[in-house]
Amino acid sequence: MSSHVLPERTDPPVAVPEHRAPSPDSTDAASFRRSKRRSGELEEQIAAEPGRFRVLTGDRPTGALHIGHYFGTLRNRVRLQRAGVEMMLLVADYQVITDRDSVGQIEDNVRQVVLDNLAAGVEPDTTIFVHSAVPALNQLLLPFLSLTTVAELQRNPTVKDEAAAAGISSISGLMLTYPVHQAADILFGKANLVPVGKDQLPHVEATRQIARRFNDRYAGGQPLFPVPDALLSEAPLLLGTDGRKMSKSAQNTIELRHSADETARRLRAARTDSERRITYEPERRPEVSNLVLLAALCQGRAPADVAADIGDRGAAALKATVIEAVNEAMAPLRARRAELAADPGLVRQVLRAGNERANALAEATLQEVRAVMRMRY
Ligand code: TRP
Repeated sequence: MSSHVLPERTDPPVAVPEHRAPSPDSTDAASFRRSKRRSGELEEQIAAEPGRFRVLTGDRPTGALHIGHYFGTLRNRVRLQRAGVEMMLLVADYQVITDRDSVGQIEDNVRQVVLDNLAAGVEPDTTIFVHSAVPALNQLLLPFLSLTTVAELQRNPTVKDEAAAAGISSISGLMLTYPVHQAADILFGKANLVPVGKDQLPHVEATRQIARRFNDRYAGGQPLFPVPDALLSEAPLLLGTDGRKMSKSAQNTIELRHSADETARRLRAARTDSERRITYEPERRPEVSNLVLLAALCQGRAPADVAADIGDRGAAALKATVIEAVNEAMAPLRARRAELAADPGLVRQVLRAGNERANALAEATLQEVRAVMRMRY
């Protein structure tokens, strides 16, 4: 494996000075625009010098992954890895209990998430690991918490949204602080690139602040931690088959592990509307447009073209199109997944090797942290 020391990276010159705290809304909008611009530059650098980048990204093991994850993130991971970027993948088990009272079927969920990533084309020798098996990563949470104020934690818009979505009225200490834990996820292995959707930007921003503050306050200004960049992926917003947000409990998802028959059954039951002519108008016709988008993503075509081809043939023809498109696009992935799942020891082996590598990186980083903090006795 390559050394965990990456070439030094400089901050983008556009960073907002930390002491100015504009209203949360303007921070969000400005940070989004900045990240978008920056992501374009990063894509050029990745194409030119993929070896400069180390990616850390991950999933919460709350269930098997679905087609929204595939088009939103998995596909992008595989693209980056194939471009030559080093990849570390976290199955964020401690993050499961941020917004729920129980870990649920966590062992099986971890297994499904690993299988989904491998089936999507993530290399089996990728460092794939779980929080709970990497103690030195978790220990970084302590110094990092000292660098974050309660007011900053309470301002994080994603934490607020997630708490609201989960119907949580009293936020736990873990829920409030998980963005800091996520900074440890990213920084323990000195990752410098975090491919994310828009909702995760506040967490990457928090990570950047923690890295800078750590370097300033505890490392005498040396760049012990890189200040990582978010790489915004253009995740198409796929809704569930009922036109609402995809969610396992609503039974409105198409999971990667579903059979062609189960996929057809769910898509046949999808909600549409009463207009015969099929068009792509996401605002006015969210349910129909979502099916059009799904077919278009699977066929690599523009949604408007897919809609135009169906034209006046109505919802039944739309459903036939989308069922065929999804099942055709997913067939190779599903075949690979079935093979991987048939190997009883595979997931355990992948995680054992990944946990071992993650532990080595985390311990080396923690040693550096303790050294600069003069905590080596
Ligand atoms: N919060 C991320 C999600 O809900 C999962 C995650 C945990 C993650 N740690 C991370 C993503 C570190 C990127 C980097 O999808």
